[in-house]
Amino acid sequence: MRSRRGWGPAASALMTMTGDEMIALSKKHTLFEWAAQAAVDPIPVARARGIHFWTPEGKRFIDFNSQLMCVNIGHGDARVIRAIQEQAATLAYANPFMATEPRARLGVKLAEIAPGDIDVFFFTSGGSDANENAIKLARLATGRHKILARYRSYHGATAGSITLTGDPRRWTSEPGLAGVVHVLDPYHGIERGWDSAAEALSMLDEVIQLEGPHTIAAFILEPVTGTNGVLVPPDGYLQGVRELCTKHGILMICDEVMSGFGRTGEWFAVNHWNVVPDLLTMAKGLTSAYVQLGAVGMRRAIADHFKDTVFQGGLTYNSHPLACAAALATIQVYEEDRLIDNARRMGGVMKELMAGLQARHPSVGAARSIGLFGIVELVRDRATRRPMAPFNGTSDEMKAISRFFRDEGLYTFVRWNTFFANPPLSITELELREAFGIIDRGLEITDRAVA
Ligand SMILES: Cc1ncc(COP(=O)(O)O)c(C=O)c1O
Repeated sequence: MRSRRGWGPAASALMTMTGDEMIALSKKHTLFEWAAQAAVDPIPVARARGIHFWTPEGKRFIDFNSQLMCVNIGHGDARVIRAIQEQAATLAYANPFMATEPRARLGVKLAEIAPGDIDVFFFTSGGSDANENAIKLARLATGRHKILARYRSYHGATAGSITLTGDPRRWTSEPGLAGVVHVLDPYHGIERGWDSAAEALSMLDEVIQLEGPHTIAAFILEPVTGTNGVLVPPDGYLQGVRELCTKHGILMICDEVMSGFGRTGEWFAVNHWNVVPDLLTMAKGLTSAYVQLGAVGMRRAIADHFKDTVFQGGLTYNSHPLACAAALATIQVYEEDRLIDNARRMGGVMKELMAGLQARHPSVGAARSIGLFGIVELVRDRATRRPMAPFNGTSDEMKAISRFFRDEGLYTFVRWNTFFANPPLSITELELREAFGIIDRGLEITDRAVA
C-alpha cells in the first residue's frame, strides 16, 4: 500500500491505485462525457468528506461546485451511508411493480415538502429521464403534442431531454423530438442584458399565439437556470408564465433538477415566487448523489388522469429501494442540520463576497446568486461588456484562471466566460471566505486582460 497523506488504514483498504494510474486506465477504457477524449484532464479522486475531496496523493480540494451541483449535504455523511448500508442489507432491489417501505415513505415525505398540491411522484434514475417522463405525462394528460422550452437551458442528454435543451449541447443531436419549440429567455447574454418580466412574457405570449395554444402540451423551464448562467428571473416572470399556462391549458413543468433541494435557500426555487407548477422534476440534491435517483412530481389532477388510463412508461430502476432510502436519509439531513436555513444565511455572505469581487476586479462583469447558487461572468471591458470568452467558446484567460483554481485546490465549474460558486449547503462562513480568497487572487489573471 502506498502511503498517502490524510488516510486512515481502514479508508485505504480498497484503494490501491495512484492518481496517474486512475487517470491512465480511466482514459484508456472509459469514455468521458462532453469532451474529445484526447483533451480530458480529470482530477483523480480517492475520498471526500464535508466540502472537501482528496486525490490519492492527498491533495485537498474545496468542492466549490458540489461535484455536479448535486452533493448538497456535503460528502461522506454517516447518516446517509448508514441508511444505504441498512437498506442494501435488507432489500437492495425490488421491481417497480412491487410496493416497498422506502418507496412509500419517500412518496409521503416528498408530498410534504413539494410546493402546493404536488403530491404524486414517479421515480426515475436521474434528471434526464425525469424530464422525459414529465413531457410524456404532459402529452398524455393534455392530448396535445408540442412542448415549449427555452434556449438558455439544459434538461438532460437523453434523446427527448437533449431536444428540450436549448444550449449548444443540443446541436449535434438534431433533428430531435418532433414538436419541441424553443423560446427566448428574459436574459440575452452579458452584452445585451435582461428584458423586464413584461417584455419576456409578451414575447412568450406571442409565440404561444403563433404556435396555436391548443397544440401546446407544456412549457418546460428551469425556474432559476443552472449551467446556462444561474439566471434568476425578474420578479413577476414566473408568476406570469404560470398565468399564461393556466389561461391556455398548457402545463407548466419546472425542472428543479439543479435548483431544488435547498440550492437557492428554499426547498424548491419556485417557492421564492409562490408559484406551483403542474409538474416538477428533481434529481441531484434529492439524494445528494449518494445514490442516483430522479423524480417527477405532479399535481393531483394530472395523477387522476391515469386512474383509468394506462400510464405508458416504466424503468427497471423506478422506485429503487436503495435510492429511495438514500433520499429519505438525505432529506432528514437537510432537516436535522437546517441546511436550507444555512444556504440562505451563507447565501447572504456569498452575495457580499461576490459584490466585493465586482468592486475590486475590473474583469468581473456580473455576479449573480440566489442562496448558494452563484456565478461570475468575466468581461474584457466593463463599458462594452465584451465577454472574456465567446458564447460556447473559451479563451487563454479562462483556461488560465481555471488552471489557477485547480492548482490552488479550488474545484469549480468554469464554462465559457463564467465560473460557478455552488458549494455544499453545509459550508461554513470560514470555508466560504477561504474559497473566495482563492478566487480573489485568481481574478488578477483575468484583470490583466481588461482594456
Ligand atoms: C436543470 C437540469 N435538468 C436536467 C439535468 C439532467 O440530469 P441528469 O444528468 O441526472 O440526467 C441536469 C443535469 O445537470 C440539469 O442541470
